[in-house]
Amino acid sequence: MNDDAIRRQPAALEAIQRDTAVLGFTMASEPKTGALLAALAASKPGGGLLELGTGTGLGTAWLLAGMDAAARLDSVDTDPAVVAVARRRLASDTRVTFHVMDGAEFLDRAAPGQFDLIYADTWPGKFFHLEQALALLRPGGIYFIDDLLPQPNWPDGHAAKVPALIEAIERRPEFTTVKLAWASGLMLVVRSSAIDKENTEGTYEQTNGSGLGARRDPLS
Ligand SMILES: C[S@@+](CC[C@H](N)C(=O)[O-])C[C@H]1O[C@@H](n2cnc3c(N)ncnc32)[C@H](O)[C@@H]1O
Repeated sequence: MNDDAIRRQPAALEAIQRDTAVLGFTMASEPKTGALLAALAASKPGGGLLELGTGTGLGTAWLLAGMDAAARLDSVDTDPAVVAVARRRLASDTRVTFHVMDGAEFLDRAAPGQFDLIYADTWPGKFFHLEQALALLRPGGIYFIDDLLPQPNWPDGHAAKVPALIEAIERRPEFTTVKLAWASGLMLVVRSSAIDKENTEGTYEQTNGSGLGARRDPLS
């Protein structure tokens, strides 16, 4: 299998990539991440989707490519210059609404339990306001993050924040998680149910993180 070979891509992708290069925007999502975003979006027919950090709209284009006609996408970014590219190439698609505003403010205002897929690709909803973002997921909803493997554009001090984020997510019993050392380093986080510790306790046991299971007293 050659997982670099992506056979289909959104029609608008090349134009957005050109505009992105002209703008000098270097934080754009890569095609492998996009392909997975499209597949996840396709798993949510009629779903409510949220992208935190629109950028120039590369992730947006992949999400729209996977969504069915009844699904809806809200995409949020503070920077009007990058959102202008996304709007120019994608706003004719009435399934997407672009919000030029702070992601934290969007999260504070949003009603809980209304999204089926969240692509958290900026600071709020990922490195802060995580709780608020996770609260927006319906049961079965997916929270998706990338850039978990070291990236050349990480600011100083950022490297330590990534394991702390992963740990903060993994300790929540109401989410089922998987990390993928693929593309820029991905994590899928699925809200297992509307709750709760009670139903999930005993389902999993803690391991030592090596993939080999917990160390146990051999006589126990
Ligand atoms: C990694 S880029 C997003 C890339 C985009 N999702 C893609 O698929 O190419 C992060 C974006 O977050 C935006 N951003 C930074 N701070 C923000 C905030 N507080 N709220 C919303 N967006 C923010 C930046 O303007 C930037 O466009």
